[in-house]
Order: sequence, then C-alpha cells, then structure tokens
Amino acid sequence: MVVGTQWGDEGKGKFTDLLARDMDMVVRYQGGHNAGHTLVVDEEVFKLQLVPSGVLYPHVTPVIGNGVVIDPTVLIDEMGRLTEAGVDCGKLRVSGNAHLIFPYHQALDVVAERHLGRNKLGTTKRGIGPAYADKAARVGLRVQDLLDPKIFREKLGVVLHEKNPMLAKVYNRLPFDLDTVAGQYLEECRPRLEPHIADTVGLLHDGLEAGQNVLFEGAQAMYLDLDHGTYPFVTSSNPVAGGACVGAGIGPRHIDRVIGVTKAYISRVGSGPFPSELTDEVGDHLVDVGREYGTNTKRRRRCGWLDTVMLRHAVRVNSLSDLAITKLDVLDALDPIRVCVAYEVDGERRTSMPYHQSEIHRAVPIYEELPGWCADLSGVGDRSELPRQAEDYLCFIEEQAGVPATLVGVGPGRDQFITFGPVP
Ligand code: IMP
Repeated sequence: MVVGTQWGDEGKGKFTDLLARDMDMVVRYQGGHNAGHTLVVDEEVFKLQLVPSGVLYPHVTPVIGNGVVIDPTVLIDEMGRLTEAGVDCGKLRVSGNAHLIFPYHQALDVVAERHLGRNKLGTTKRGIGPAYADKAARVGLRVQDLLDPKIFREKLGVVLHEKNPMLAKVYNRLPFDLDTVAGQYLEECRPRLEPHIADTVGLLHDGLEAGQNVLFEGAQAMYLDLDHGTYPFVTSSNPVAGGACVGAGIGPRHIDRVIGVTKAYISRVGSGPFPSELTDEVGDHLVDVGREYGTNTKRRRRCGWLDTVMLRHAVRVNSLSDLAITKLDVLDALDPIRVCVAYEVDGERRTSMPYHQSEIHRAVPIYEELPGWCADLSGVGDRSELPRQAEDYLCFIEEQAGVPATLVGVGPGRDQFITFGPVP
C-alpha cells in the first residue's frame, strides 16, 4: 500500500507507478477527482485524477474500489485522453458500489464554500464532500444504479426534491432538471462505463487467492483524513491505510507493506494549520523549484520544512513499514536545511502530535538545523553517489521516523530515484 504522510501532493503517483510494474492490480480506495497524480514517462506527462496509476502497464488491472466517489463525465474524459495517448483502458474495473458525483454535489460544494467566507475549507470544488455526505445520509446513487434506469430516475427524483429547494432557497441557485441529469448519466455515461462496472471485491479476492500482487493507491493523505487529519480542514474520506480495508473490501491481514510517501519538505493546499509553514523567500523557493501548483486546480501550494512530529504520528496511525522520500532534489540549493522535530505549545516542548486542534494552531515549530549539500542531485542514480550531507539528511529522517527509507526521488522522471535501503 502507498499512502501520503502529509497533506497530499507528496508525489505518490511516481512511486505507485514504479511499484505498479511488479503488480497484477492497482486499486484506488477513496477520494475522487480531487486527486491529481502526475506521471512522467519518456518525457510524456500523464495527469491522472481517477484512473489508478497502474493503467500505464498493459499487464496491470486498474481497479476503482467502492470507497471512491466518481464523477462519470470526468472518468470518461480521462479514459478518452489516455486512449488518445495510446494507453489502453480496457482492463479498468469500477466498483458497482462506488458512489456517483452529480452536478448538484459540485454546485453545493461551491456555494457552501462561498457561504463559509473566511472560514472556508479551500476544497477542490469537485463535489467530493457533498457526495460523501449523501453516501453517509443514505441518499447517494451508486455506479450500479446506472444499470437500472427506473431505479436511477426514482432515486434521483427523491434527491433532487431535497437538493433543488436548498439550492434555490438557501443559496439562490438554479435547480437541476431531473430529465436533463438522468439523460446525461443514463444515455451518455452508462454505455461508456458499463463494460468496466464489476464486483471489484470478488475480483480482488480471486486475485489474492491466486497469489497475485495487489497495490493499494491512497489519494490525498494522512492529515487530510476525515478522522485523523486536521479536521475540519480535511477531505471527506479516509486516506489512511485502514481506509483501504473499507474502501476496497479487504481485511487488514492482507496488507503486508505500507509505504509512507514523504516529501523532503511539506506542502499544503487549502486552509488549515501548518506549523512549519514558511511565508518567507525560502517558502517561495520551495514553491518555484518544487513546482508546487495543484495538478488539477492550479492553486499555489503553501510550503514549509519537513515536520517529523507529523511524520512519527503518521508512522503509528498507518503502521508504516517504510518511507519513500520524494523531491529531495528540490532542497539542492538550500543551506542550512531545517527540520521540525518538536512543537512548543504554551511553553511546553511536545514531540508527539497534540490531539487538541487548537494546540496544533498554536504550535510553534522547534527546528534542528542540518547542513545543505549545495549540489545537483537530479542525476544521482545510486546511494553511493549522494553527497554526505544528503545522506545525513535522509538518515536523520529515518531516525526521527523510526522506520527506514527505502526509496528516494531525485526528479520527476520515472528513473529519477535511488534505492536507499532494503525493504524491511
Ligand atoms: P475536497 O477533498 O475537495 O473536499 O477538499 C478538502 C481539502 O482537501 C482541501 O484543503 C483540499 O485542498 C484538500 N485536497 C483534496 N484533494 C487533495 C489532493 O489530492 N492533494 C492535496 N490536497 C487535496
């Protein structure tokens, strides 16, 4: 399993892609098209939102699990773009139990954010939260409902009966027409998706029983997790490792390795606390060199130093076995490099994550300073070629996290990584 240990955008796609090479299935288990994975293959850039990264390998079956929320128009568009680029999407399987995102979800996401004013969450405005809210309220429509037009229209009618007055009376927005929405989903989307709709839980277990290798690809990350993140500045699903059990339909005993993808610094898009955030020229440098703009939303990401208080907590909650450290090369020109190792909260030194949200807002980072390497790492292909300071930086992270780093990224390309240590 590959999970993010920060606020997303750690570069999970790159290592998912690398690991997918040896897999039979790659499974998405939560989130939706709020995610954006960028893969660079032979200088060609692929931007994926919903389709699992494994799609680029013809031998891999990419699976969208029941825990994902799907805007079918986005999925169809993404499959179309991949097909145009010569990538075969024929093997993609989509859970019939996954919930659908509708235009009213997106409209509600936009207006709810506007309504919150300066307390807004900074969502991706893709309708993710409203779709998961309907799932929990048991009024959502699932992918399998597309296969039964009568039921689909009935359910949609019930939902619109509630959503339309809300949109019109509370938010002063135009209502959605049942026939238009049903027509788009049943006549345009259904024929394109039907060949891909499957019992993904059965498929997964058949594969596992046959000894196949399965990779679970987390979207977003630990600190955007609905239960374990910096609530309410989180997404509406469970990106943590445990989320894969629910979102794909497997028991925890099937998971034998959990890789925590950790950027060599941290970024965050949207609102919420960020103790080690840098609002100075070093922060600007990280944004520029790290190209820290949203894959889909193009929003400028907030950047800061690596925070090992957060990392240690992520190791625990996700039972991480090892770390994949990404974008080490972005630190090439910085000297010294700082790492947040503890927080000062109300005059007290804290090395573990405060559970009280207000304390995270008040936390003042305590840094250790390490010398920079002031060298270009983008061409480094082996651990032995790393400058001593870069090696020391990585060892420091391992020591702070208490788990080994196995992979280290030194550039966006598929081959720009080194194997740092053996898999535990
Ligand atoms: P939502 O997922 O669109 O509801 O947004 C909730 C929060 O999660 C916002 O702060 C978003 O910026 C953040 N978020 C959602 N998806 C991603 C992602 O893939 N990378 C980074 N942040 C994300």
